[in-house]
Amino acid sequence: MKDFPIVQELHYLDNAATTQRPLQLVEAMKDYTLKFNANAHRGIYSIGEKSTEIVEDTRKKVANWINASPEEIVFTKGTTEAINIVARGLKKSKIYLTQLEHHANFVPWQQFHEVIIANYDENTDKVNFDFEKEFDVLATTYMSNVTGSILPVKELIRKAKEKRALALVDAAQVIGHKKIDVKDLGCDFLAFSAHKMYGPTGVGVLYIKKEVQELVKPLIYGGNMIKNVTLEKTELAQGIQRFEAGTMDIAGIAGFNAALDYLAQNIENFSLNEEKLTCYLLEKLDEQKIKYFGHKNSSGPVVSFVLDVHPHDVSTILDRYNVCIRAGHHCAQPLMQCLGVVATCRVSFAGYNTKEDVDKLIQGLKEARRVING
Ligand SMILES: Cc1ncc(COP(=O)(O)O)c(C=O)c1O
Repeated sequence: MKDFPIVQELHYLDNAATTQRPLQLVEAMKDYTLKFNANAHRGIYSIGEKSTEIVEDTRKKVANWINASPEEIVFTKGTTEAINIVARGLKKSKIYLTQLEHHANFVPWQQFHEVIIANYDENTDKVNFDFEKEFDVLATTYMSNVTGSILPVKELIRKAKEKRALALVDAAQVIGHKKIDVKDLGCDFLAFSAHKMYGPTGVGVLYIKKEVQELVKPLIYGGNMIKNVTLEKTELAQGIQRFEAGTMDIAGIAGFNAALDYLAQNIENFSLNEEKLTCYLLEKLDEQKIKYFGHKNSSGPVVSFVLDVHPHDVSTILDRYNVCIRAGHHCAQPLMQCLGVVATCRVSFAGYNTKEDVDKLIQGLKEARRVING
């Protein structure tokens, strides 16, 4: 696809790790860097003001994309930092997590709170919640980065709200494939990364609903997050500014701005294509008698599978065919334990992938079996 020169040479099937970036993003970052590079929210000269304008315009676009208000959008380094802000900023609580979580939505909670777990059942491809249990915060992924399973998040949040619990959604995997509406979901927090939606690394988003902002203490303290500082004490700024200490990745935010436009123009066609490719891949895996996980319920374009060759060997052999897949535990070790494996091969699609990518993958898988098993 012409907007992504790198995939003309490569069968890139590791989009759950990070997506490739369109030329439009590169242009926006170049334009910013060469013409407007200045710190944001500081200098009162033209390029300083332009820099601030780019950040604030991007904030509005993000807010618009998820149906929030700009005063509810915090820029972070990524999903991990966004979740850490909430996990470290809330008072010690009881947290309801799922066994599908990426470590980013598991480890921070486990370090600073009491956690209870809703188990994943691979046979039904469902997470079993027990809403009779007591908890203060539901922190759940929207879509698994291993099985692609999509959780009934709106319903789960509704039940959590009946218990007056807070709700955080890890939207890292879903955000590049499906439009999200935070008001409709009813969540208090939503976290995602720009680099999983055709944007740059180093930029992420934490949505914090206005009504709960005061419940979260900032994670990072310093410049640009204060109202007044004296030798004796510091008065913090109100609202989202409290969560954005220090200088942001402004060039990255300029690129994210272009990526958001790009996604808005393409999301429908892209998700249709990803859906078709996922079905095609599952058919081909069935033909080869290769076991894959999940995909019995609502799922996204992420497929994990195992065959009679170690995932690392599979990935290395596929590399000879210019096919990039992920092999490993995918930062989801509690889920690996549930699936009874230590690692899987994972294919994940983006809008620019083609049937040819899947065909090349299958050819490589056959070769991997031939090389290792003889
Ligand atoms: C579901 C999920 N949550 C969180 C993360 C962490 O994202 P980041 O590394 O951009 O902070 C990932 C990354 O793969 C993910 O898949």
